[in-house]
Amino acid sequence: MTLDFLGNLERTHKCGELRVEQAGQDVVLMGWVNRRRDHGNLIFLDVRDRTGITQVVLDKEISGEAHAKAEAARSEYVVAVKGTVRKRDEGLSNPNMATGDIEVVARELLLLNESKTPPFSPAEDAIGNEEVRLKYRYLDLRRPQMQHNFELRHKVARAIRNYLSDDGFLEIETPFMTRSTPEGARDYLVPSRVHAGSFYALPQSPQIFKQILMISGFDRYFQIARCFRDEDLRADRQPEFTQIDLEMTFPSQEKIFRVVEGFLTAAFKAAGISLTTPFVQMTYDDAILKYGIDKPDMRLPAMVSLTDELTPELREALKIEAALPVLGFVIPDAGGLSGTQKRGMVEEIRATFGDCGLDFLDVARLKTNETFAPLAATIEAKTAVGAADLLIVISPKLGTPAKWNYDAQWIYKRVGALRLQLGQKFADKHGRFAKTGTENDFKFLWVTDFPMYEWDEEAKVWNAAHHPFTSPHEEDIKAGRLTNDKGAVRALAYDIVLNGTELGSGSIRIHRQDVQAEIFRSLGMSDAEAKERFGFFLDALEYGTPPHGGIALGLDRIVMILAGATSLREVIAFPKTAKAIDLMVDAPTPVSDQQMKELHLRTVVRN
Ligand code: AMO
Repeated sequence: MTLDFLGNLERTHKCGELRVEQAGQDVVLMGWVNRRRDHGNLIFLDVRDRTGITQVVLDKEISGEAHAKAEAARSEYVVAVKGTVRKRDEGLSNPNMATGDIEVVARELLLLNESKTPPFSPAEDAIGNEEVRLKYRYLDLRRPQMQHNFELRHKVARAIRNYLSDDGFLEIETPFMTRSTPEGARDYLVPSRVHAGSFYALPQSPQIFKQILMISGFDRYFQIARCFRDEDLRADRQPEFTQIDLEMTFPSQEKIFRVVEGFLTAAFKAAGISLTTPFVQMTYDDAILKYGIDKPDMRLPAMVSLTDELTPELREALKIEAALPVLGFVIPDAGGLSGTQKRGMVEEIRATFGDCGLDFLDVARLKTNETFAPLAATIEAKTAVGAADLLIVISPKLGTPAKWNYDAQWIYKRVGALRLQLGQKFADKHGRFAKTGTENDFKFLWVTDFPMYEWDEEAKVWNAAHHPFTSPHEEDIKAGRLTNDKGAVRALAYDIVLNGTELGSGSIRIHRQDVQAEIFRSLGMSDAEAKERFGFFLDALEYGTPPHGGIALGLDRIVMILAGATSLREVIAFPKTAKAIDLMVDAPTPVSDQQMKELHLRTVVRN
């Protein structure tokens, strides 16, 4: 096939722009053939670019030459069309297309490039095989849904950048080739050619650099920063991802919350959604008690505790363990589940709790249930269970908890997990999570006062629950809890949560060298080791470090939720698979002997 040259032809419009108002105008469009329909003397080409699709008509009687080229055109050929906009005849409009009231009658068609038959058509909405999508990512990205996701991502990032810039934040880049930053994952390492046997680490976050920038007097820093973490991947985790990272001097926790609420409001506005601020706040302890998790999905009602209602006498009569919580949860609109659905639920619950006391109650059954009838009125008031809802109560019958290898929070966390699992599954069927495109789809929450330390049962050590630069509450330092009672130390650390997803984490930092050294020690790090790993930072802290704090939010996660997607791969242009492979470029790969030699490396694959 002979292809045409573009010459100095300029396009006059994009494929999503034309409306009846332009009827009669001469236009030039360029784009890809989305679909082609051949009706003999009439050929229709749907021409697509980023902005949309326009139907182009090639009529043999108007231009035999253009018609002949259209006969040769196939899906994903690149074309230029010169023609006239025409209002479509009555009854031929397509209400599903923004340009559906018009078509362009072509006088000239240029075939600018051909395409092999693609492994899938970018004209399809859903492509089943994700591996094929990732291998041919350039075709996948042509799909209108993907083009929309990246336009959304751009708008969100731009709104945030503008908001923070207007609020006095300076965007400052920090290095990619650096030392390890402790964020709880493994590092990606880069071998040095010049220094045999030495490695740079890619940053898990800009944490230490942003703190140094506060010591350097920049007052307010932000960065839309790429981070790298070698960790187990999930739908909401990628090995490289982007943070909206910020840090401020002399901040209160509330001040930081206002900044974040401000830029999120701007970002959501850019996506057409208005938010109401301030967001709800809840302590970590409350979140565990009420939701059994530190990132509650607030679209579902909280757990209900019937612990106090079940008095010792009632417990004895009902054979319920004396000292354990009795918890339940309401699944909205799930009252009418079928017997099969309920049996399925019982199986899911028994998988966690074994043969526990388990009651499915709706408002009617509440009044006749042997255990709960005496408490019916109290429970109804406390749970606000409605006529259409289902209430599930899990009570530790005498003897059962012996099988539950539980600690103080075990029951809360397990019942919370069930609340989420069953609630999302069954309430969803009843439209609870149906997207309305309004603020109601997005339930934000601040979780505060996280524990400072986490006990690692396997390694028998205390780890920093956030990172080791997080400040404990002053009272806990003063009361000596850093040494006496680590489990009780609260941190000035907070998370922002959206619909059950952790969007971001931050903290007020330690700004005193003596406290920082003490925290390292309390984490089992010797002074020598602390000096070796963080000596530069401990030194910097000694030169007039102001109180400071900040936060980082996952940009990818924000866009994923806004786009209504369930995987970060829908909002990262060139993502990696769950095995950390880039299927398009085929990375990682072994490198040449020459490169290995220059890097002073030899591979010995250990098993
Ligand atoms: P943290 O480690 O909690 O905090 O990370 C902050 C946010 O970054 C996002 N995130 C990820 N997104 C995609 N893939 C990943 N693998 C991934 N890991 C993290 C999440 C998370 O909430 N330096 C601290 C912040 C601070 O204290 O200021 C930090 O990095 O949305």
